[in-house]
Amino acid sequence: MKTERIDGDNIHLASQLIKSGEVVAFPTETVYGLGADATNEEAVSKVFIAKGRPADNPLIMTIADIDQLEDFVVVTDAALSLMKVFWPGSLTIILPIKTGQVSMMVTGGLQTAAFRLPANDVTREMIRQSGVPIVGPSANTSGKPSPTTAQHVWHDMQGKIAAIIDDGPTQVGVESTVIDMTNDTPTILRPGAVTQQQLEEVLGTKVIDATSTTSVADNVIPKAPGMKYRHYAPDKQVIMFDSLDALSLKEVITSHDAVMAQDSTLKKLALSIQQTWSLGCTTMSATEQLFAGLRFYDDEPDIQTIYVEKMPAIGLGKAFNNRLGKASGNHEFLN
Ligand code: TXA
Ligand code: MG
Repeated sequence: MKTERIDGDNIHLASQLIKSGEVVAFPTETVYGLGADATNEEAVSKVFIAKGRPADNPLIMTIADIDQLEDFVVVTDAALSLMKVFWPGSLTIILPIKTGQVSMMVTGGLQTAAFRLPANDVTREMIRQSGVPIVGPSANTSGKPSPTTAQHVWHDMQGKIAAIIDDGPTQVGVESTVIDMTNDTPTILRPGAVTQQQLEEVLGTKVIDATSTTSVADNVIPKAPGMKYRHYAPDKQVIMFDSLDALSLKEVITSHDAVMAQDSTLKKLALSIQQTWSLGCTTMSATEQLFAGLRFYDDEPDIQTIYVEKMPAIGLGKAFNNRLGKASGNHEFLN
């Protein structure tokens, strides 16, 4: 299949492709997604094939306007309050489906479905013109870091999907926060740019973070079906390190290692340009750069190990460390 590159002002072509059951990669503020008509099972099956995604890992549905929800799911007052504050934006909300209204292929056989309304005008206009919600998993090959540029999508998906809409690099850099609103206690299944504290403020109740090891016993927390699969993992070895250990790290680094770190840490290490990837000066810039750096060094033949600096474990730092933990298989540099 020849993959078209579409720019943001040719949304018409993209929506035509969606309507005719094809797969189109689309930009969001978090990462790029793989779109297909969520009401067309044949189109949805193409997404699973392009990603190489296991069939029991459900897809999120991406919408352009809140009123698209009522055909598919039961919207509670609490869920609505989250939508009003955080949509458009980096929050995916899991809700109970109206029986028979969402394809089992999308939900992986669950009685719940995940919805997101992304903060990207091009994509929302494409969804409006298509007239249907689209499925929206990240546009990477299953198990690899999510794409934050159209070039990353091209790397993984060329020849496998009909088109890629290029709207430049994404802003957040990691996938949305996933919150399960189907039980009595709202539960974060994946940390992202919308934080536990922000969610608690809006809901006025306690929110459990199922991904934090200290929150609750392992056997009682609900899990996103995708959690059991390996994620964000380059082929190269990834090792996380604490900035306090920078000088010990310097002693073991060879020319086959690369380091992704904040500028202050890179200064201490004083390595060659080819070996260093700047994560900037803030947790926000680090998060934005994480997947791009991992993807870059994964394709560098001379590099064998990628060391990545952890961020302080608060707010967005939790999302950064969660993705880095997965990319590294929780492998830490200990001095
Ligand atoms: O930022 C994002 O959310 C990106 C952009 C493209 O919108 N999308 C994304 O989708 O990250 P995906 O499919 O790569 O990750 C969605 C996660 C998966 O781990 C999946 O298992 C989980 O959400 N999920 C989807 N439906 C679910 C459900 N009904 N119950 C529990 N978890 C669900
Ligand atoms: Mg994904």
